Amino acid sequence: MKILAIESSCDETAAAVVEDGRKVCSSVINTQVAEHRKYGGVVPEIASRRHTENIVQVVQGALDEAGCALGDVDAVAVTAAPGLIGALLVGVNYAKGLAMAAHKPLIPVHHIRGHIAANYLAHPDLKPPFLCLVVSGGHSHIVEVRDYTDYHVLGRTRDDAAGEAFDKSARAMGFPYPGGVSIDRAAQKGDDRMYKLPKPRVEGSLYDFSFSGLKTAVINLLHNTEQKGESIDTDSLAASFQRTICEILVDHLEAAARDLGCRTIAAAGGVSANSGLRRRLEEMCASNGYELFLPPLALCGDNAAMIGAQAYYEQLKYPPAGLDLNAAASKDIETQF
Ligand code: KG4
Ligand code: ZN
Repeated sequence: MKILAIESSCDETAAAVVEDGRKVCSSVINTQVAEHRKYGGVVPEIASRRHTENIVQVVQGALDEAGCALGDVDAVAVTAAPGLIGALLVGVNYAKGLAMAAHKPLIPVHHIRGHIAANYLAHPDLKPPFLCLVVSGGHSHIVEVRDYTDYHVLGRTRDDAAGEAFDKSARAMGFPYPGGVSIDRAAQKGDDRMYKLPKPRVEGSLYDFSFSGLKTAVINLLHNTEQKGESIDTDSLAASFQRTICEILVDHLEAAARDLGCRTIAAAGGVSANSGLRRRLEEMCASNGYELFLPPLALCGDNAAMIGAQAYYEQLKYPPAGLDLNAAASKDIETQF
C-alpha cells in the first residue's frame, strides 16, 4: 500500500510516498529555517504563508521522485495535530483537497506518533512493544508504545521541552536559532565537567521532566560571569549543559525501563540527533543489555516519511477521516482523532 503523506506542523513543508509503513519511495523537505533564524525562532504567520507557497511543489516533487501520479497512491495522510495551528491547517486543507479530488481515503496522523514511527523506516525488525524517549522542540515524553496505535505516556515535561531548553540556552550563549545543533557542535570541543548545572526534579513524579530551571541556571551563570568581568568558556558551557540534560533524559528513561521491565528502547524527535544523547543512550542500553533503536539523523527532524509510516498503521486500525477533519494545536498522543 502506497501512502502520500504531508507534514506542515512547524517550519518544514514536507511530503513523502511510503509503502506499507516501512519503505520510503520518496521524501521531500522544504525548510524555512533560514528565514525564521532572522527572528530568533519560528514566526507562526510566516510559517503558514511559506507552507501555502510551497506545498504544491513539495507534494508534486514527492510524487515525481516516487515515480507515481496521485492516482497511483492508495491514501493521503497528513499531520493534523499537534503544532502551529495556521501551519497545520495548510497541510490539512491541501490533503483534503487531494483526497477529495482523487477519491482517496484521508488519514490524520499525530505528529509525535509520526516521530516514533520514523524508527520503523530504518529498523525493519522493530515492533511494539517498546519504550520510546520522544525529544523534540515541543515535546519531551517517555512513551510506552504498547502497539502501533496504543500509547501510554509515563513521563512528560512540566515546562520547557528538551529542544526548547537546548534552543533557549543556545540563544543565551549567543548561538543562532535553532541552537540545539550548535550546542552539539560546540560541546565536542568543550570540557563537560567545567560548569556544574542543576538537575531539577519534579516532586511526586519519577519520570516527569522540568527543564526551565536548567535553562535559567545557564542564563544566570552567563550574567554573573559577565558582571564579574570574567569570560565564559562557551564550548565548555555547551558541553556541561548537554551532559546535564542528557543525563536527566537517560536517567529517567532508565528508571522507567527498569520499573516496566521493558528491554527494547527507542528514541525519536529532533533532539534524538544529538550526539551526546545518542552516546549516552548507547551506554545505558549496553550496560543493561537492552536493545536500542535510534532513527537515522535524516529522520530525526520533521519529515513526511515518518507520517506516511505511521499512517499505514493508523489505517489498519481506524476508518479514514471525513472531509470535515480539522487540525488541532495540541492533542495527547494517547487519544485517537
Ligand atoms: O522534532 P523537531 O524537528 O521539531 C519538533 O517537532 O519540534 O525538533 C526540533 C528540535 C529543535 O529544538 C532543535 O534545536 C533540536 O530539535 N535539535 C537538536 C539537534 N538537532 C536538532 N538538539 C540537540 N542536538 C542536536 N543535534
Ligand atoms: Zn517534530
